[in-house]
Amino acid sequence: MTASRKASEVNLTAITLLLCLSPVIGDYCEVNNCHNGATCVTGVGEEPFICICADGFAGDTCNLTETGPCSPNPCKNDASCQVIAPTRRGDVFNEYICNCRAGFEGAHCQTNVNDCANRPCKNGGVCRDLDGDYSCQCPSPYVGKQCHLRCISLLGMEGGAIAESQISASSVHYSILGLQRWGPELARLNNQGIVNAWTSATHDKNPWIEINMQKKMRLTGIITQGASRMGTAEYIKAFKVSSSFDGKTYTTYRMDGQRRDKVLVGNTDNDSTKTNLFDPPIVAQYIRIIPVVCRKACTLRMELVGCELNVYSNTTGCSEPMGMKSRLISDGQLSASSSFRTWGIDSFTWLPQFARLDKQGKTNAWSPSQNNRSEWIQVDLEKTKRLTGIVTQGAKDFGVVQFVSAFKVAYSNDEESWSMVKDINTDSDKLFQGNIDNNSHMKNVFEPPFYARYVRVVPWEWHERITLRMELLGCDD
Ligand SMILES: *[C@@H]1O[C@H](CO)[C@@H](O)[C@H](O)[C@H]1NC(C)=O
Ligand SMILES: *[C@@H]1O[C@H](CO)[C@@H](O)[C@H](O)[C@H]1NC(C)=O
Ligand SMILES: *[C@@H]1O[C@H](CO)[C@@H](O)[C@H](O)[C@H]1NC(C)=O
Ligand SMILES: *[C@@H]1O[C@H](CO)[C@@H](O)[C@H](O)[C@H]1NC(C)=O
Ligand SMILES: *[C@@H]1O[C@H](CO)[C@@H](O)[C@H](O)[C@H]1NC(C)=O
Repeated sequence: MTASRKASEVNLTAITLLLCLSPVIGDYCEVNNCHNGATCVTGVGEEPFICICADGFAGDTCNLTETGPCSPNPCKNDASCQVIAPTRRGDVFNEYICNCRAGFEGAHCQTNVNDCANRPCKNGGVCRDLDGDYSCQCPSPYVGKQCHLRCISLLGMEGGAIAESQISASSVHYSILGLQRWGPELARLNNQGIVNAWTSATHDKNPWIEINMQKKMRLTGIITQGASRMGTAEYIKAFKVSSSFDGKTYTTYRMDGQRRDKVLVGNTDNDSTKTNLFDPPIVAQYIRIIPVVCRKACTLRMELVGCELNVYSNTTGCSEPMGMKSRLISDGQLSASSSFRTWGIDSFTWLPQFARLDKQGKTNAWSPSQNNRSEWIQVDLEKTKRLTGIVTQGAKDFGVVQFVSAFKVAYSNDEESWSMVKDINTDSDKLFQGNIDNNSHMKNVFEPPFYARYVRVVPWEWHERITLRMELLGCDD
């Protein structure tokens, strides 16, 4: 009679409401075998009938009064309740204490601690309070968990770290009967000499110059400069910037929330420099400068400002929880192939939104409707992140230990074409080792890490029923 015992813990009014709304649950019993004002229902699970007890009663037929101060659990926010010897706490006589999860406080753990209270975000970063954590949204050029680092290295146009072979352009201007070549490799800030900059060909109606940084970098600014040719100042007065990960598809830079391409203000003479900052920063491997308005000719010397992607999240550092537990990842970002409904009841549905590491409660994990290898749970990280690992955890249902003992991981940037995480040695799908019990954390590392917006976990082997709580590890970009 486990079914009835479990149901008896449910608040009567909630269930009554459910009964009215949901015909799935079954019919009322012809003879009410339940005591103390309980509701009797048939056609649910294996049992001939179940009793849904009124507040204050418990047991298979609701003939028992409440089993103790912790049943039902008076603690909020997934806190656990612990029965203690009666003590006084302030003015109140107590028989239990609530053990709060990180980020909550109060006698019943009803208060979400404001993790932003200590102002952890430096340099104008905007703090967002999470469950037991916070996140900082940093203004450019600041980066890092607390916006404490500045992403302002000169990337090497002037210094030479960017080689000639990394710089290309739509066209080149030749002057003095073709003797002077104003090639893209000359477009280096403060370059000296008679021929000391890039100039596009006169006939080129859509000029651009491109730098291939050879790996993904974070760009926070660009410094531009014109030049003089035959005593005449030539420079780019206004320009756009576009960027690419692969050198094939390009995105023109826009400010957050803007529909129009950003036009940056360029130079006003042959020699002085103009700095434009990118806020938000541009993350890309290829960057193109597209002149919009030029004086005399589109002539440019330049420098890029930015940093390596993971200055603040080196190999050991890029393993921050992505926010399953802290709820930085919101419910709307989680989805699954299906969800298991205990007795077909909505409030006992094992939704993907419950698959949060260390979640407590009756239904505290994701579980699909079928136990087969076509089921999956998906996280939409909302933008591309670097993912370095995953922590998984099982759960219990009615005292039965359930977990995923092996799984695969798939990822995507468009939610349409998916790649499986491969085993680097065999090049076949990597089978990750999952859990062995209802509660312990199993951590797996992605070697090498991958970049993705969407991540799917595909259960491959399981114990009892596919049941999963999880956290993704990684960092921005
Ligand atoms: C409650 O009912 C069960 C049968 O449903 C019975 O075995 C048990 O003795 C009853 N307990 C009390 C305290 O009445
Ligand atoms: C170029 O800039 C230098 C330094 O600002 C200035 O002395 C010179 O007159 C300028 N030349 C032209 C052609 O504008
Ligand atoms: C990674 O960065 C952390 C600080 O964020 C630092 O303490 C640690 O030593 C770095 N590790 C490596 C391998 O550079
Ligand atoms: C797995 O279960 C789903 C229902 O969730 C079903 O549509 C599918 O056919 C099943 N696949 C296999 C291989 O049994
Ligand atoms: C489930 O995990 C908890 C905490 O690790 C442990 O105390 C308990 O014995 C486990 N339950 C079962 C049924 O194995």
